[in-house]
Amino acid sequence: MKIDGDVGITFDDVLLKPRRSRVSSRKEVSTSTFFTRNIRLNIPIVSSPMDTVTEHSMAITIARLGGIGVIHRFISIDKQVDEVNKVKRAENIVINDPYKIGKYATVKDVRKVFEDKGVSGLLVVDDGERLIGIVTSRDILFQPDDRPVTEIMTPREKLIVAHQGIDLEEAKKLLWEYRIEKLPIVDDEWHINGLITAADIIKKIQYPEAARDKKGRLLVAAAVGIKGDYMKRAERLYEAEVDALVIDIAHGHMDRALETIKELKNSFGDDVDVIGGNIATYEGAKDIIKYGSDAVRVGIGPGSTCTTRIVAGVGVPQLTAIIEAYRAAREYNIPVIADGGIRNPGDIVKALAAGASTVMIGRLFAGTDESPGPVILRNGKRYKMFRGMASFVARLGKELRMSNIDEGDIGEYSYSTEGVEAFIEYRGSVEDVVKRLVAGLRAGMSYLGAFDIEELRLNAEFIRITDASVKESYPHDILLW
Ligand code: XMP
Repeated sequence: MKIDGDVGITFDDVLLKPRRSRVSSRKEVSTSTFFTRNIRLNIPIVSSPMDTVTEHSMAITIARLGGIGVIHRFISIDKQVDEVNKVKRAENIVINDPYKIGKYATVKDVRKVFEDKGVSGLLVVDDGERLIGIVTSRDILFQPDDRPVTEIMTPREKLIVAHQGIDLEEAKKLLWEYRIEKLPIVDDEWHINGLITAADIIKKIQYPEAARDKKGRLLVAAAVGIKGDYMKRAERLYEAEVDALVIDIAHGHMDRALETIKELKNSFGDDVDVIGGNIATYEGAKDIIKYGSDAVRVGIGPGSTCTTRIVAGVGVPQLTAIIEAYRAAREYNIPVIADGGIRNPGDIVKALAAGASTVMIGRLFAGTDESPGPVILRNGKRYKMFRGMASFVARLGKELRMSNIDEGDIGEYSYSTEGVEAFIEYRGSVEDVVKRLVAGLRAGMSYLGAFDIEELRLNAEFIRITDASVKESYPHDILLW
C-alpha cells in the first residue's frame, strides 16, 4: 500500500490570480484550440457521448458554434452511422450525394424518408437515376398517402438546375433570381452530380466560426466501446467519414482498452483520430499516448451523474487529474480533454489554465432543445431526462436493445451501477448555454492577459482557497431576485 501525501484539488479549491493585462477588449482573444492531435476547433467545447446529450442535433449546433459533439454509442450501429451522416450533411455547400427517391414512390414513402433522414426535400429520379423532379415538404402537405410522387413534384421542365463547376456566387444569384431553395447540379443527360441548398448557404454565413473538415462539412466524433461489435462499429463510422473515434469507457487505463487504441490506429492510420480514456493519472495519460491516442480524455468520477467515487472508492479530484495528465501529454504535444464536473464558465477557465485544451460537457447541455428526449411536464415545470451512462436505466436500456439480457437478470443490474438518473430543468437552446460559457472564458482570459489558450496556461497562477472564500465567491448576504 502507498499513500500519496499530496491533497488532490478540484475547481472550487482554487481561484486564478488576476494579472496585468494587455488585452483591452474580450473580443481580441482567440479561443481556438486542438481537440486531438489533428483536429482544430474554434472554441474549446465538446459535448459528451451520453444518450441524453449528444445525437445529431446537439452535434450540429455545437459544431456550428465552433466545437464538436461526440455521438454516443448506446444505439445500433446503423443508427449511430445515420447520426454521423446527418451531421456531415447538415451544411455542405454542395451535397455530393443528395437523397433521392424513385418515380414509383408515393406521398407515404416521401414522408418516411423526410422523417428518417431529417430532410425537407428529395430529388425524384427515373429508372436510369436521371432527375425528373423535386418534392419538398410543402408539396406533400394535406396530400393522401397513396398519391404518386410524380403527380405532386415540381417536374423537370420547371426546375432550375446548374452544371458542375458552378461557384458560390453564381449559385446564390440563381437561388435569389428564381426565388428557389434547392439547386440540383446535373450533367447533360440529367444524371445528378450534387445539390446546393439556400439553407446551407445561409447557415455558412450565419455561423462563420463553425468547426469544419477539409471538405467544409461540420466536424463530428463518435464513441465506440471495447467489446462485442466495436470493430464493426468503428469501421462503419470510419466509412461515414467521422472525424474522430472516442473509446468511451470508464477505465481507459486497462490493458484491453490500450490494445483497442492500437487496433483502431493500425486499422485506420491517420485518416481518423482515436481518443483513449478515461484516465486520471500521469501514468494513465502516458500509456494511452504510447498506444497511439491522439488526445487524452481525463476524468474518473467528476461528472454530475457519476457515482464511481462513492461506489468504487476510486477517482482523482478533477483539477489534479488534469494537471497530472497534462504533465504527460505535453511531453508528446497531445491535447487534453477535461471531461466532467464543469458547472460554470469559471470551471472552464480553470480547466484550460491547468493544461486542458478542451472541456467535455454533459449536464450543462442536457435539458436543451438539442439534447435527445422529450420535454416532460412535472408539477407545472418543464424538464428533460438526464442520466449517467453507467446508471441502472441506461445500462439496462442498452442491454435490452442489444438483446444481451434475459428479463430474469434485470435485478442483477441494479447492483453494479456507477451513475444516477435525473431530471434537468428544460432551458431552451444550447446555443445560449454555449455563448454564456464562451463569454466567461473570454473574460477569464482577459483577466489573465492571455490572447490565446496557450498564453492562458502560461500566465496561470492558482491560489488555494478555503470554504470561507468559496462562500465569498458566490452572491451572498443579499436577497436574490
Ligand atoms: P458532466 O458533469 O458534464 O459530466 O455531466 C459528463 C461526463 O460524465 C461521465 N459520465 C459518467 N461517469 N458514471 C460515471 O462515473 C456514469 O454513469 C456516467 N455517465 C457519464 C462522462 O465522462 C461524461 O462525459
